[in-house]
This record gives sequence, C-alpha cells and structure tokens, in this order.
Amino acid sequence: MTRNISAEEMARQREFAQKCAELFGENPPIAHVHTFGCQQNVSDGEKIKGMLAEIGYGLTDSPDGADLVIFNTCAVRENAEDRVFGNLGSLKHEKERNPAMIIAVCGCMVEQGHITEKIRRSYPHVDLIFGTNALYRLPELIYGQLSDRKREICVPDGDVISEGIPILRESKIKASVPIMYGCNNFCSYCIVPYVRGRERSRKPSDIIEEIKSVLADGAREILLLGQNVNSYGKELGTSFSELLREINALDGEFRICYMSSHPRDFTKELIDTIAECEKVTRHFHLPVQSGSDRILGLMNRHYTRDDYLRIVEYIREKVPGAAITSDIIVGFPGETYEDFRETLSLIEEVRFDSLYTFIYSSRKGTKAAEMDDPITDEEKGKWFRELLDVQGRIGKDMYEKYIGQTLRVLCDGTGRTQSDLLTGRTPQDVIVDFEGDKSLIGKFVNVKIEEALIWAVKGKLVDG
Ligand code: 5AD
Ligand code: SF4
Repeated sequence: MTRNISAEEMARQREFAQKCAELFGENPPIAHVHTFGCQQNVSDGEKIKGMLAEIGYGLTDSPDGADLVIFNTCAVRENAEDRVFGNLGSLKHEKERNPAMIIAVCGCMVEQGHITEKIRRSYPHVDLIFGTNALYRLPELIYGQLSDRKREICVPDGDVISEGIPILRESKIKASVPIMYGCNNFCSYCIVPYVRGRERSRKPSDIIEEIKSVLADGAREILLLGQNVNSYGKELGTSFSELLREINALDGEFRICYMSSHPRDFTKELIDTIAECEKVTRHFHLPVQSGSDRILGLMNRHYTRDDYLRIVEYIREKVPGAAITSDIIVGFPGETYEDFRETLSLIEEVRFDSLYTFIYSSRKGTKAAEMDDPITDEEKGKWFRELLDVQGRIGKDMYEKYIGQTLRVLCDGTGRTQSDLLTGRTPQDVIVDFEGDKSLIGKFVNVKIEEALIWAVKGKLVDG
C-alpha cells in the first residue's frame, strides 16, 4: 500500500527546518552530499540538497571540513557498495579530528538489512541512517542530531509518495522529474524492487505542475524518471502515453526524455505516441540485457529475442533516424559462451548506437544470487572485452551516419573536447561540440555535423 505524505506532515518538516536554522544563527554550517548511482538517486540528491539549503546549510564539493556529510547510496552492483564503504572508512579520521561532524548514509544500500547491520556494527562514526521512504523527514532527523547526538536508524517499511520537498537542481537547463517510484518486475538479478519497493505513480497534475514550474525557470529538457516509466499510471487509470501527450502539449520549445524503459511494456501504441509527439527525444534506451532466450527466461524478463527485434523494427519504421541504445549484462549465472554469442549476434543485428555494459554482480536476496554460477570472473572479463570490441566497431559507424545532417541541438555548456567550444545534444542524445557564443547556452540551435569522434560528433552552427 502506498502512503501519500500529507501536507500537514510536510509543513511539520518545514517547521523542523526552521528550528535548525534558528540553532545555526549567524554561522551557517556546510554540508557535503555524495550521490552514487542512477538518475533516480541523483534526483533524490537534489531533494536532499533542497532540504539542506532550507535548513540553512551551505554546500561543499568535498567532505574535508564539512559539518555534515551525506552518502546517498546505490545498491545495483557490488562495486558501488564497495566505494561507499571505502569512503566511509576514510571519514573515520576526519571525524576524530572534528567530533561535531554529522555523518549520514541514505539511499538504496541501507534498505538492505545486512548492510544497515554492517554499518551499525563496523562504522560507529556514522550517526544517521535513513531509508528512501524517510527522505522527506530529513529536517526532523537533522534536528534530532543537532539537539541530541543519539545515533538514529530510520528505515521504515511501507512505500510513500511525498510531494512538496524543496529541490536544488543540478542544472537549470535539464530538469529531472520523477513520475513514479519502485518496480514490480523482479528481474532475477536486480535488487531494485527490494530496495525501492512497489511501483507507485505520482498524480499527473503534480507532475505537470512541476514541469510547468521548471520550464518557467528556463529548463529546456525534462527527464521523466522511473524504474520502468512504461508502466506509469496503471494504478491511476492513466498511462505513460497519455502523460507524454499532455506534456508534449505544453507551450514552448523543450525536449522530453525518459528513463528507464522495459521492452515488455514498450507497446506499439507508445511508439506511435512518441512518433507523434515532436518534443519527445528520438532516443530509445531499451535495456535488452541478453540476446539468449534461455538467459532472458532465467532473468525473468518476459520477452524473447524475437519480441525485442520486433520492437526495434517498429521503432525504425515509425521513428526513422532514431537512436537505439541498450544495457547488457555479461556473465549471468549459468550463461554459457553459446548464450553470450547470442548476445553478440543480437548486437550485430540491431546495431545499437551505444551500449551500457555490465558484468553480472550477485545481489543478496535476489533469485539469481541462488543460481549456480560456474563461470570464473576471468572468463567473464574476457567475454566483456569481446563485447566492447564488437560494439566499438559498430558505434563508430553509428556516429559517422550523422555527417552532413543538420540537427536541432540543445546547447548545454562549454565543449567536451575543447573548452573554447560549446556543447549540446541532438534529438538522438548524441553529444555535439561546435563553435559559438556562450550566450547560446540553454538555447536550441541548428548544427551541421561535420566530423565523427568516438563518443561524440563535431559540427558547425547553422543559425542561432
Ligand atoms: N549485475 C549487473 N548489472 C546489473 N544491472 C542491474 N542489476 C545488475 C546486477 N545485479 C544493470 C542492468 C540494468 C542497469 C541499470 O544495471 O543492465 O538495466
Ligand atoms: Fe530492476 Fe528489472 Fe525493475 Fe529494471 S525493470 S529496476 S532491471 S527489476
């Protein structure tokens, strides 16, 4: 059951923020927030920073000398967790030098009982642990730390939606807007459903209001976030298609992006909608994970290689010129070299514009963690490099196809290849560097593509 946090509760949190601000008086303290992981976590990090700013904290990029350090953690793969433990370990001495420092750990990692227990036992310098469903209570939790330095662990059960948390956005040009939380899919390798809870959607009116507000503040790209955006709105009697149409109808030139998608829910109707909505990105990120039907079955993905290829075919028919990217997991338990070759052949067949590739990481509590995994890490590493080689060849051709095309580019900063250039992204989400005046940052411009690099293209401004 989803619990909507009431307006009264949110007002109570603002009172706690006010009380903290009064405690600080003339000397505002500084906080360091380190976010690991996906866009959803980055979005939570923006809320954490928004609440801290309201409480009265200044923000710093380094934990050195900070009064408050928050690690907003990710649990998707083991290496993300290892990095958090490494960071926590190195803060021990800092805390000895400055015992007043508050150290907090939040996010997906602490939703796992064994991790919270490990932090509790082995990292006594951590003062505060709070789960994703307690995020909105940060002002109260900080007030608790300031008034009584008792260690607190707050990881409540039960999925919540909380509207009205202040947000300090990383970018004025690109705004992330969560549309739903949690996941119901239970892919057998994935920890997300266990740490983010069941799928729940924000009301369309709350989403639209937030989008209107960021557009009024100058945002030109809206990134709609959810673990599986294609199943948005099921429990509210609406759909992702309907939401896209409503956002697309808002005034002004802006781009609509979304992540993540599940191929199972990527229907023809949704592709038709995207084809008709001119503001929606021409980039389809469709994680396939494997090209082997046997492995897809073990992964509990609910589609076959053929189903996936049919989706790709329909996208290419309805949205010509669209970029298609994907996620691949190498070395799923029981995967053989023959299964892996099926993945390679799928990649050759689809010719993805780019790929996010991962070596399987066993996650305690998931179904896959109980499966036999006889292949050595060394062997998996070899397969992984083979995959990178194959995609490396394909990816280069994919960028070359843009040469000679004039594309609408959202200029979002100074150049990635040279700091005296501008940079932006095409509707296919390809990075473009080009010459131009800095006043173009935050605007849409037309750029003629002239050169393909390995991970980007270079072009010439056609008009401002
Ligand atoms: N091991 C490796 N990769 C994983 N992903 C999710 N869980 C795991 C895991 N246990 C990858 C999937 C997903 C992406 C966000 O992370 O490819 O699409
Ligand atoms: Fe994990 Fe699958 Fe849900 Fe994505 S759809 S978050 S991979 S369980």
